[in-house]
Amino acid sequence: MNGDPFQETMYIEENTYKNDMISLIFLLKEKVGALAKVLRIFEEKSINLTHIESRPSRVNKDEYEFFINLDRRNTPLLTDIIKTLRNEMGVTVHELSRKKKKDAVPWFPRTIQELDRFANQILSYGAELDADHPGFKDPVYRARRKEFADMAYNYRHGQPIPKVTYTEEEKKTWGTVFRELKTLYPTHACYEHNHVFPLLEKYCGYQEDNIPQLEDVSKFLQTCTGFRLRPVAGLLSSRDFLAGLAFRVFHSTQYIRHGSKPMYTPEPDVCHELLGHVPLFADISFAQFSQEIGLASLGAPDEYIEKLATVYWFTVEFGLCKEGDTIKAYGAGLLSSFGELQYCLSDKPEIQSLNLEKTAVQKYPVTEFQPVYYVAESFKNAKEKVRRFASSIPRPFSVRYDPYTQRIEVLDNAKQLKNLAESISSEMGTLCSALKKIE
Ligand SMILES: [Fe+2]
Repeated sequence: MNGDPFQETMYIEENTYKNDMISLIFLLKEKVGALAKVLRIFEEKSINLTHIESRPSRVNKDEYEFFINLDRRNTPLLTDIIKTLRNEMGVTVHELSRKKKKDAVPWFPRTIQELDRFANQILSYGAELDADHPGFKDPVYRARRKEFADMAYNYRHGQPIPKVTYTEEEKKTWGTVFRELKTLYPTHACYEHNHVFPLLEKYCGYQEDNIPQLEDVSKFLQTCTGFRLRPVAGLLSSRDFLAGLAFRVFHSTQYIRHGSKPMYTPEPDVCHELLGHVPLFADISFAQFSQEIGLASLGAPDEYIEKLATVYWFTVEFGLCKEGDTIKAYGAGLLSSFGELQYCLSDKPEIQSLNLEKTAVQKYPVTEFQPVYYVAESFKNAKEKVRRFASSIPRPFSVRYDPYTQRIEVLDNAKQLKNLAESISSEMGTLCSALKKIE
């Protein structure tokens, strides 16, 4: 079912709720007799509908949405009816009541195109700088930041990411950061980072005198893991940013830090994204791990979004991992900071094993080196931990990303589960056949 009933519930007016009433919304394909079939189920249980209205679905052209009211005294029979509608008829049903409305599932994007909506709901525009920002008093830098912010603001999914002609000064800043960090990578960065980095130099223009273009890098990542970049005009909410990961989309800045302080930036910039994040997104296990955090966030209550954002902070941004007897860095905040990359592997900070119950509530500073880091056994192990954590999130459905349609499937009815079983069965057939051939 492709409707978006979670969002649609927001259109219901408060005064339609009455204490003695239960309201339901269900979606039906446009077909003769479809409504009659549903109404018969209510009739068989002797339930009288006190109100019914319909409208064409705003999401799917060939579907209709029905809004009905019934007497609250019928509540005991309702569970069976909803089960029959969902499981035997494949109908998407949503029960609305005061309690349900309070607990309503927050909206989340179902298609990759819907990430475009985030562009209009950024928390701050990238051109607005704080008074202590190194570029605050530089009108040329501020005008440049506005150019980047406008470009990202107008970007829509499917368009190539605009190529940027970086100035000599910008290239010089990049060169300094690139040169310094590259000296630390062989000893401090994880295997995956060091494995991918030469490929980025070969195929994506990673050079001391050249700032790589997001479009080239995004295309490269798509061939490795299906991850892609999209430019972002400013700060996104944690909920929106994490939702992008569910689609294997990483929101990336395109501007560079101020040239007066090449080794410092108070916010993510293109050095942080390209040197810190990008190499890891080319790794299959890391890509799966990142997407798992994104999928866990969809429709999660606010307190769980905060926990997932904290997990993201201590893994994707500041994570360490085991490599045999040693510990290496894989977090982008570390791999893009000359000072913190050395500090995190010294004996100064506290090092703990990744434990999501604990990690998810760990407090952290944002403007100084981290006092605590968490070490993952492996990305596969970290992914399993996120999956287990996700199952503790209170939401009435599971989700799955379909890479063919680039949609999120909400697994809340028999039809969806049957489709999933068929798809797994087909994959199992391929696996068995391949295993037989290599015996
Ligand atoms: Fe980052």
